[in-house]
Amino acid sequence: MRNFVQGIVFALIALSIGGWVYLRLGFADLRAKAVPSWFESEISLTALYAAAARHAPAVHNPIQATEANLLNGARLYRDKCADCHGRPDNPLSDYGASFYPPAPQFMKVRPGLPDRENFYIIKNGVRRSAMPAWGNIMADSEIWEVVLFLTHLDGLPPAVDRELHKPALSSP
Ligand code: HEC
Repeated sequence: MRNFVQGIVFALIALSIGGWVYLRLGFADLRAKAVPSWFESEISLTALYAAAARHAPAVHNPIQATEANLLNGARLYRDKCADCHGRPDNPLSDYGASFYPPAPQFMKVRPGLPDRENFYIIKNGVRRSAMPAWGNIMADSEIWEVVLFLTHLDGLPPAVDRELHKPALSSP
């Protein structure tokens, strides 16, 4: 039993040193240009969605789905998010696709998470990705407005759709 435990400890130390040497000698591929494998995407998205489900506040979106609120959400999305996540006249953003992992393109595939989890991800960002922590920049009420907009993408009032087509007013 003692030898077995010693063997495991030795293997763990050898693996750690081997891993460090591998990184230190520059073998790791850290290019953002590469395309993540299916396996890596599955693992990281599973972890991201599970963390969002666990940590997101257990509340409903406090913002009502009125045209005025959807307009605010559309403006915020157009000005702060569309460069990476796409807009109607640029539905597949080359810029967003150039990150590792790439930014999901919401004009093509709608965000599928519940509001509270979208809120959590938008507010806190995603570590080691290009997704910023918008809680440092936007008020909670603005984040809920953009979440509202994202979940109504398929049924936007014409005035909101028109707003989305206008040029962005400012970058983040
Ligand atoms: C500079 C690029 C960039 C900007 C700007 C940006 N995002 Fe992201 N976003 C990303 C990337 C990259 C991911 C993917 C992270 C991952 O898969 O780990 C992401 C992921 C997300 C997700 C999770 C989607 C899912 O279901 O997997 C949501 C929701 C989101 N962003 C919303 C927003 C909103 C809303 C804004 C604007 C307030 C915004 N993002 C601005 C790059 C960006």
